[in-house]
Amino acid sequence: MSQQAMKIEAARAALDFVENRMRLGIGTGSTAEEFVKLLAERVEDGLDIIGVPTSERTAKLCLQLGVPLSTLEETPALDLTIDGADEVDGNLGLIKGGGGALLREKIVAFASQRMIVIADASKVVQALGKFPLPIEVNPFGLAATRHAIDNAAQSLQLTGSIALRGGNENDPFETDGGHYILDASFGHISDPDALSRALHEIPGVVEHGLFLGMAEKAIIASEAGIRTMQRS
Ligand code: A5P
Repeated sequence: MSQQAMKIEAARAALDFVENRMRLGIGTGSTAEEFVKLLAERVEDGLDIIGVPTSERTAKLCLQLGVPLSTLEETPALDLTIDGADEVDGNLGLIKGGGGALLREKIVAFASQRMIVIADASKVVQALGKFPLPIEVNPFGLAATRHAIDNAAQSLQLTGSIALRGGNENDPFETDGGHYILDASFGHISDPDALSRALHEIPGVVEHGLFLGMAEKAIIASEAGIRTMQRS
């Protein structure tokens, strides 16, 4: 089975958790896009939901496919968010933000009673950190923020490159919120909670891609079929 087919199967399995009249957070990325396509089919068949998208990209696809949308202003409390992830550990700690939508993804997930992750088996890891950690930062004081992140990481015995996404200082990747992303290649993050706290103390850090204690379930698709991981 191709990776794409696994993404579709994980997305399909997540539909079992979607009920009529739910207020739904809708994630970003290639797996979440498969979910949107399948959700749109259900909506066409009469499913009554309202979605809050986690990015402009997801909003555009939902609008194209006829998935009704709201905002967190109109619908501040959501029942369920379905989203992809870049890494999932055994306790459902996540790294997210490979698609650059981590801030809105975290705001939407936090506004939801439940979060379910959909992913193919390649995303499951023993420990977080092989995938570079996306850190969303304010453009103001970029160099100082990068320096502060480096210091905070070193105090936790984490080292590695901290790269500006997009590569070019004059034309970096910009998030939907107008921020930049630093991708931190720390390797194995032995204490994700400590790193999360340390990053939140840095004023120029808007948010980071560690999603800890947020997902209650992960639906993982592999050649062997679907398995569900549950937070302990
Ligand atoms: C978007 O910012 C990310 O958090 C995505 O959820 C994550 O990168 C997973 O994307 P894929 O489903 O494309 O792997």
